[in-house]
Amino acid sequence: MCGIIGYVGTEECAPILLEGLRRLEYRGYDSAGVAVHDGRELNVRRAAGKLTALGDVLARDPVHGTTGIGHTRWATHGKPAERNAHPHVSGDIAVVHNGIIENHVELKRSLKEQGREFHSDTDTEIVAHLVDLATQRGLDLFEAVRETLKVIRGAYAIAVLSRADSSRIVLAKNASPLVLGVGEGVMLAASDVPALLAHSRDVIFLEDGEMAEITRKGARIETVAGVAVERAAVRITWSLMQAERGGYKHFMLKEVHEQPRALEDTLRGRVLLEDGLLEPGEMGIGVDDAKAIKRVVFLACGTSFHAALHGRYLLEALARVPAVAELASEFRYRDPVVGEGDLVIAVSQSGETADTLAAAKEAKERGARILAVVNVQGSAIARMAHGTLYTHAGPEIGVASTKCFTAQLAALTMLAIHLGRSRGTLGAEKARALLGEFVQIPHKMRTALEGAKHVESVARSILHTRDALFLGRGLSSAIALEGALKLKEISYVHAEGYAGGEMKHGPLALVDRDMPVVCLLPSDSTLEKMLSNVQEVRARDGNVIAIVDDESVAKDLATYTIKVPATVEALTPLLTIVPLQLLSYYVADLRGTDVDQPRNLAKTVTVE
Ligand code: F6R
Repeated sequence: MCGIIGYVGTEECAPILLEGLRRLEYRGYDSAGVAVHDGRELNVRRAAGKLTALGDVLARDPVHGTTGIGHTRWATHGKPAERNAHPHVSGDIAVVHNGIIENHVELKRSLKEQGREFHSDTDTEIVAHLVDLATQRGLDLFEAVRETLKVIRGAYAIAVLSRADSSRIVLAKNASPLVLGVGEGVMLAASDVPALLAHSRDVIFLEDGEMAEITRKGARIETVAGVAVERAAVRITWSLMQAERGGYKHFMLKEVHEQPRALEDTLRGRVLLEDGLLEPGEMGIGVDDAKAIKRVVFLACGTSFHAALHGRYLLEALARVPAVAELASEFRYRDPVVGEGDLVIAVSQSGETADTLAAAKEAKERGARILAVVNVQGSAIARMAHGTLYTHAGPEIGVASTKCFTAQLAALTMLAIHLGRSRGTLGAEKARALLGEFVQIPHKMRTALEGAKHVESVARSILHTRDALFLGRGLSSAIALEGALKLKEISYVHAEGYAGGEMKHGPLALVDRDMPVVCLLPSDSTLEKMLSNVQEVRARDGNVIAIVDDESVAKDLATYTIKVPATVEALTPLLTIVPLQLLSYYVADLRGTDVDQPRNLAKTVTVE
């Protein structure tokens, strides 16, 4: 999500900034820009769309200078448009930013009261105003940025350039990546290593809560609190391709590991921990609207449909509203009964899936209110919906959806809590307890990811299987479907997901000693029933792989046990999906398939 580049050196920097941004393209973006200091003035060039558009602008209207900052923007606040592209300028100050400023609403209000004019819809412009105000009060640029950081809350990596000083760039990091590149008489900064490798293989990773100042002579690093930081550069030995994947072998593996961050970004600034309500602004569903909902209809395809199943379950449980989940590709061809009083929730990571878009349009024409749960700002489904709840997973490159799926689960869980609170079906105390546990999930997910090596060894044991079954009950039944989909799409192993209770109605006939059966066994209200289903599998010699939060549960039943941290029932899917994603990844990788681009599949399905 967004890419930052900064350069202080001796060469014309516009082409260097552009090339650096090209190396960050994989992060996804929808507009781009640069600010270059020509020794007297700051010259800003920006363009909506791809870097070629920015290249065209620069060719028509060149900028010259040896200090500059650049940015690719992946829209979060405000549409993808030139006016929202970075850098944002206020007075003498130009800023590029990656992340989300949580308290932007109150800060913007107060800045407007001080007479500040805004030229974009972004949260970033606030930073430019705050730094400008601080320098006007006489603070040096580094101190002005420090003052600003004390006021803003949220996730950020920022780079700041001042017209008053062409010799330096000031940087800061909190929860968004930033790395410095050390060269001979040149210093760079970027969101990721690939953007630096053409100029430097010696890099310094900034840590959260740190700021830096780069000049041609080197870097000065301090914590925001003012403690000097001495950190030696590390030498990067990765190839450029490896570097773009952050050292991971595949984008999918990188994205699986990015899930805790994606979850943090999706929750950040949204949940009002005290009362369990979401910021209604972007969704357009306030308390009265929530009370008026008669029924919820989820529309989605593939992995997003599995997230919808999760949403349906939780909405019924917490908000006591009838809910159904429909495959979008089927819905519109059956003359559906849908209309006023229905809240239709279109779930789609791309926001462009033709089936989901068409089904949501059909429902809208029939009078339903449409809420889009999408990952891409300004996408077709977001544009046609009455309100939008964005998942902030960042761009997903691997065709198999992973971090977008867990971000969808998180967004729908937040929505269920919000509707439950608004409709009076979920008490404040229960909501607070649930939210208190919710914010622990990214940490627990990191623990689940630590088990990757063990999952790899389990994958090795089922490497040559032709088929696999995935079983779960309650909330875990959607996870069983998702686990099976992941395995089949990237490893080409035939896999089926079933609700555990269905086994004896047919699929049990498939079970023998050669059949791996992945059983979801978190300690929840369906555990006992699931254990009976697992007994049925064991009685037919099935090869049980148990996903548990308590190892004693499957001790005598499972060939392999994979443990994840325990949590409350509503949140278990966010943890139990992790080993299933890893299992399919390792099976696929060990079988040598094209993990990131499996055969016959596309990332965004814009055909029916
Ligand atoms: C599977 C996968 C697909 C998508 C489906 C819908 O890993 O990614 O099943 O979930 O094509 O796509 P979106 O979510 O973009 O509507």
